[in-house]
Amino acid sequence: MGAIDMGAWIRHGFIAWAALLLGQDATAASATLYDQIGGGAKMRAVAEDFTAIVLADDRINFTFAQTDTKKFTQLLFEQLCNLTRGPCQYTGRDMRTSHAKLNITNAMFNALAEDLYLAFDREHVPYRLQNRVMVLLAPMQRDIVKIGPGPRASLGAKVSPPPQ
Ligand code: HEM
Repeated sequence: MGAIDMGAWIRHGFIAWAALLLGQDATAASATLYDQIGGGAKMRAVAEDFTAIVLADDRINFTFAQTDTKKFTQLLFEQLCNLTRGPCQYTGRDMRTSHAKLNITNAMFNALAEDLYLAFDREHVPYRLQNRVMVLLAPMQRDIVKIGPGPRASLGAKVSPPPQ
């Protein structure tokens, strides 16, 4: 009996030791991107800044002429929250339907991406976390852009750190 008990003891001991050693990393790895960014208040601030920046951006603001911008901010918040695994449901329309009549070009898509980076900067969200959000948004380009050459990884283009 001794050998079996000893084996169990060693295994339990090892697991406890490994959990102690790895505990901190495991916690950090399981935090959602939403939490790492700063949770609801931060994400809402990003969404609000983003709407203000977009509405001041002459490259794309004309597309929002008929839009209820308060509702847009709320839906964008929900979408960012949901995509980053926060506790939110996205209640808006899908990207293809909601952008179908807007004749969006790749250049306009890139302009909007720049505006989102600016909004994240304004809220001091670290660049590496901004890029993780952008990676999640990039696949939407093919549903949103209607005009111009086929989708290219324009959001991905900024993923590498800026030269300095
Ligand atoms: C990854 C990029 C984008 C994301 C995540 C995004 C997200 C959204 C969301 C969540 C909505 C609300 C959907 C709804 O009304 O049910 C929306 C609507 C809208 N988006 Fe985008 N969008 C993107 C790109 C663009 C671009 C490039 C433009 C134009 C330059 C644009 C212009 C608009 C406009 C004008 C509306 C409101 C449409 C309406 O009032 O019916 N979006 N977008």
